[in-house]
Amino acid sequence: MDVVHSVGSFRQALEGFRADGATVGLVPTMGALHAGHESLMIRAAAECDVVAVTIFVNPLQFGDPCDLDHYPRTLADDLERCASLGVGVVFAPSVTEMYPDWPEPPSTRVSVRAEAAHWEGASRPGHFEGVATVVAKLFSIAGRSRAYFGEKDFQQLAVVRRMAADLGFPIEVVGCPTVRDLDGLALSSRNARLSADERRAATVLWRALETARVAVASGERRPAAVEALIASVVAGEPTVSLDYGAVVDADDLSVPALLDGHRPLRLIIAADVGPVRLIDNARVEVALRGTPRQLASGLVGAASGR
Ligand code: PAJ
Repeated sequence: MDVVHSVGSFRQALEGFRADGATVGLVPTMGALHAGHESLMIRAAAECDVVAVTIFVNPLQFGDPCDLDHYPRTLADDLERCASLGVGVVFAPSVTEMYPDWPEPPSTRVSVRAEAAHWEGASRPGHFEGVATVVAKLFSIAGRSRAYFGEKDFQQLAVVRRMAADLGFPIEVVGCPTVRDLDGLALSSRNARLSADERRAATVLWRALETARVAVASGERRPAAVEALIASVVAGEPTVSLDYGAVVDADDLSVPALLDGHRPLRLIIAADVGPVRLIDNARVEVALRGTPRQLASGLVGAASGR
């Protein structure tokens, strides 16, 4: 496995692989790798000839300097994990390699309007601009490839898809399912900062999503009722402070007027657990009534209630 630190060497390495006829699977990360990241590498290895992992704690996407300072950095362990999974090349640049004028941010930045406007975008101003800028730079260095992102960061995935499509990168963005602990908590590098009590309380995010999923699958059609249900489950854990919990259109993350089953939906949630902000999301399907032919014709819609 090659470990490179400069933009030029990374570009050259990937061009070399492609010149030999190999397809490239790109897995951008901020390190502190866990089984969630590994699932992306395993998927990339199954679908591409060579896997390229990037490890860069991107200061441009952190609003809170304290969060940036506390972000875990475990490069030696990360490289071992990558090597054991058969990764071909790791790109681990310094901050000034990516942003030569740092602490002056780069003058050119990428901002994605609609997909970044709400939810995490509203709660963390500048966050998605930082993400879109660094991912655009990584895409531009990497060139033709497939890039693997986790559904764990569902809004990020929507922002990256939009950015890649709008800017015409020759890169297919692939979304991969969230890896969870046995009790439902989504794996996250931030979980390491939770105390034992906070770790236990954090499972309320998954419990709230599950409760909402079952309600929608049983016929609840009112987005406001789903929001209230999520809030009531989270209220059962007084140490957890809910930022948002909602059911949204899975493509543009807008809130539908009614859950009519015509568009794919997603449940999303964000909350502070002690010092850590956690996010999660889940697929949800509306209960539909009627014969397959009636449903296909649009003559009947979602179940009318419980
Ligand atoms: P990071 O948080 O390190 O995550 C890297 C990738 O791993 C992202 O695509 C994220 O969605 C995915 N991931 C994290 N936890 C996961 C889990 N439990 N299951 C499945 N996938 C998971 O996301 C970032 O870094 C950065 O914003 C980045 C895209 C690298 C830009 O700096």
